[in-house]
Parts: sequence; structure tokens; C-alpha cells
Amino acid sequence: MASRGAFQLNVILVLALAATAFSTLSPYYYQDVCPEALPTIKRVVEAAVYNERRMGASLLRLHFHDCFVNGCDASLLLDSTSTIDSEKNSRANQNSTRGFEVIDQIKIEVDKICGRPVFSCADILAVAARDSVVALGGSSWMVPLGRRDSTTASRTQADSDLPSPLMDLPALIDNFKRQGLDERDLVALSGGHTLGFAQCFTFRDRIYNETNIDDDFAEERRKTCPRNGGNTTLAPLDPSPARFDTAYFNNLVEEEGLLHSDQALFNGGSTDELVKTYSENARAFSADFAKSMVKMGNIKVLTGEAGQIRLNCRKVIN
Ligand code: HEM
Repeated sequence: MASRGAFQLNVILVLALAATAFSTLSPYYYQDVCPEALPTIKRVVEAAVYNERRMGASLLRLHFHDCFVNGCDASLLLDSTSTIDSEKNSRANQNSTRGFEVIDQIKIEVDKICGRPVFSCADILAVAARDSVVALGGSSWMVPLGRRDSTTASRTQADSDLPSPLMDLPALIDNFKRQGLDERDLVALSGGHTLGFAQCFTFRDRIYNETNIDDDFAEERRKTCPRNGGNTTLAPLDPSPARFDTAYFNNLVEEEGLLHSDQALFNGGSTDELVKTYSENARAFSADFAKSMVKMGNIKVLTGEAGQIRLNCRKVIN
């Protein structure tokens, strides 16, 4: 009997271990421990977006830049120290990613309402991205939660893994594939460029030298992005940069994509058809965008005992 009891105990232990090892994210992760966390994040995001519409775009981009560099682990948020080479100083992030103060504010308010630091910075990024899209008119989705925060960051990894606006379609497809994302994810997620702005230096070559660009559009953009100087002057990524709509895809069909990498999605290649579909079908875009955001949000997440829950999103707890 004793050995049968021991056997049953072993089975239970193995099952429990398996559950931890394969523990996946859940939208209800914080429901018992802090039911007020999600409404709090929503409130802070809404206030930030109300204060400055562009902030919604900036917050969405933070989650993307977090997930593409060693997974969605809030490594992007860590400031430089003697042991941390901050991703904020990488090519794609320096003088470009923004919204870190809003994340700090969310963390403070969430920890306060929860009574202790239980909500990870990586999860804050995922929820703030969703709430930003919704605040700017997009459809909502359930965000799976339970990510933990990294204890490391890598500027060199950021430099190699974040896509460049100069990439052609094969390079973009390959870049996303290395993250476990397919062509459909690439096109849907690029729809994030329905929000926000880009600096002149990121699209200068396109508006002066490329041929797959609408003449009037190129001329218009050249007015505020001169051949020399004006590197940081902003242009909207689509004509309605504070509205989550399908204008980005309509633009691609009209050869009015702002970045080289945007127009690469509609340039006679394998993604043309899907761009056209999204340009004509806002529901299809919204549904696929949500699906791909959840998929991106699953990239190499830390769960269980891995990583930590930071107190301050900019600093590792030693
Ligand atoms: C497909 C490859 C991508 C490339 C090459 C790319 C590149 C860029 C570049 C160059 C900018 C302008 C940065 C600046 O001028 O400071 C930008 C802005 C932005 N990107 Fe992307 N991006 C890509 C995919 C994505 C994805 C997947 C998302 C989100 C799902 C996203 C969301 C944004 C947003 C919202 C902005 C505007 C940010 C703001 O106004 O603060 N991008 N991107």
C-alpha cells in the first residue's frame, strides 16, 4: 500500500511539474491577485493618449521592440548600468522609441492598486499596446498574461534583430520568420504603421530615389524632408496617424507607403494579395492584427520561476 501511495504521489508531482514547465500565458493571470490592474492600465493609457495622440503609437511600438529582442521580457525598458548595455541605445531605438515615462507611471499605479509588485513590466507593455490600439479606434482583444521580466538586456541583439526600414520583402520575411512569425503576421503587424510618425532620415532615400512611389505623394513629403538636413522632421506613417484604420494598406496599394519596408509589402511580391485584402476589409485586418499581436506576445516569454517581477521597470532587482 505504501508503495502505491508513493507511486500516486510521484504521478501528482510529475503532473504538477509538467504544468509548470508548459505553463502558458492566460488572460486571467492576475484576476485573483489584482483584479483592478487591467482597468488601471487602461485608465493611464487613455489619459496619456488624450494628452498626446501619438503616445498610442509609441506604446504599441514598445511592445514590438521588446518582443523582437530576446522575447517579450521588458528587456527594452532597462537603463544602462555597468552590466546592462541598454537596448534603448540600439540603432532602431536611439532617439526614436518613446513612452518610457508612461510605462513608469503605469507601473507605479498598478503596484499601488495591487498593494505589492505582482504585475510584470513585460505584461504592462503587452496590455498598454492593446489599450493604445483601442484608444485610437481599433478593435480590442484578450491579452494573455503571466510574462516575467528579464534580468538582462542586449543592445547588440537589438541591432541584429530589429528590422530596418531599408529592408526588401525577402529580408522582412526572414526577419519575422526568425521570430516564429509568418508572412501573414508580417503584413498584419506592419499594419501597426496605421499609427504614428517617422523621421525624415528613415524615408529620405525613398522619396528622392525610388520609382515605385506616387509622384504627388513623393513631392508632398519632400516639402518637409529636404535632401540635406531636417533629419528628425516627422511625417505621418499614413494619412490618419491617430486612427487605427486601413488607410495604411490603401496607401500601399496607391504606392504611397512612407518607408521602403512598407512599400515592399506591395511591390509585385507574395504579400500583394493580402495587402489588397486588408485595404478592402477592415474586419479581416482587425482580426488578423489581434491574432498576430497575441502570437508576437508569446515570443520567448519567461514564466514560472524564470526572470523576476521588477519594482522599477528600468532596473533589475539584484
Ligand atoms: C516590418 C518591419 C518594421 C520596420 C522596418 C519598422 C520600422 C519603423 C520605423 C523606421 C519607424 C519610424 C521611427 C522613427 O523615425 O523614429 C517606425 C515607427 C513605428 N512603428 Fe514600425 N517597423 C516595422 C514593424 C512594426 C510593427 C510590427 C509595429 C507594431 C505592431 C510597428 C509599429 C510602429 C509604430 C506605431 C510607429 C510610430 C511610433 C511613433 O510615432 O512613436 N512597426 N517603424
